[in-house]
Amino acid sequence: MNQDALKQAVARAALAYVVEGKIVGVGTGSTARLFIEALAEMKNRISGAVASSEDTRQRLEGHGIKVFDLNEVSELAVYIDGADEINAELHMIKGGGGALTREKIVAAVAKKFVCIVDESKLVPVLGNFPLPLEIIPMARAHVTRELTKIGGAPVLREGFVTDNGNLILDVNGLQILDPVDLETRLNQITGVVSNGLFACRPADVCLLGTSDGVRTLNAC
Ligand code: 5RP
Repeated sequence: MNQDALKQAVARAALAYVVEGKIVGVGTGSTARLFIEALAEMKNRISGAVASSEDTRQRLEGHGIKVFDLNEVSELAVYIDGADEINAELHMIKGGGGALTREKIVAAVAKKFVCIVDESKLVPVLGNFPLPLEIIPMARAHVTRELTKIGGAPVLREGFVTDNGNLILDVNGLQILDPVDLETRLNQITGVVSNGLFACRPADVCLLGTSDGVRTLNAC
């Protein structure tokens, strides 16, 4: 099975976690896009969705799925999204698509976070994938210096502006042995809006696409 087929399989498997009659939180990226296509098949059985990016909002609306502003929603049963890397504790690196801040906000509201990934994303230690940080533009040089002090090698994502009007730094060279600690420390750097470590609020379930089928991982 190729990577696309594995993503397709987990996207479809995630439908089992969608609560009928409720609003579902929807992530961003190629796996989330496949989930949106699958979700369209049951659109008459949900109240609607909350989108984690403008791209996702447009895709949901394109399928005739009502999109709610998160501020109109008092609770969200489930949030379904992909990841760039995930470990056995279900800590993740996210933000390859640059939507990390809105993804983190939606995940914070959701009772359950279901991460949908192909098996290439499961790693023993996070950090091979460059860690994205969303930053306020005027803080770019300051944040770059601070990241260098802790051993990171940040690179500005050229030509990219987030849905919130900010920049992304992709940080190479971090071997992330304590994701909760690093997530917390990065949030202390003035000018950082959010970072792509999802460890303080990890996934609750990971649907992992493998050539032997979809495996369900719970945090160990
Ligand atoms: C976007 C994300 C995505 O979930 C992550 O980049 C994975 O994307 P894909 O499903 O295309 O591999 O965090 O900001």
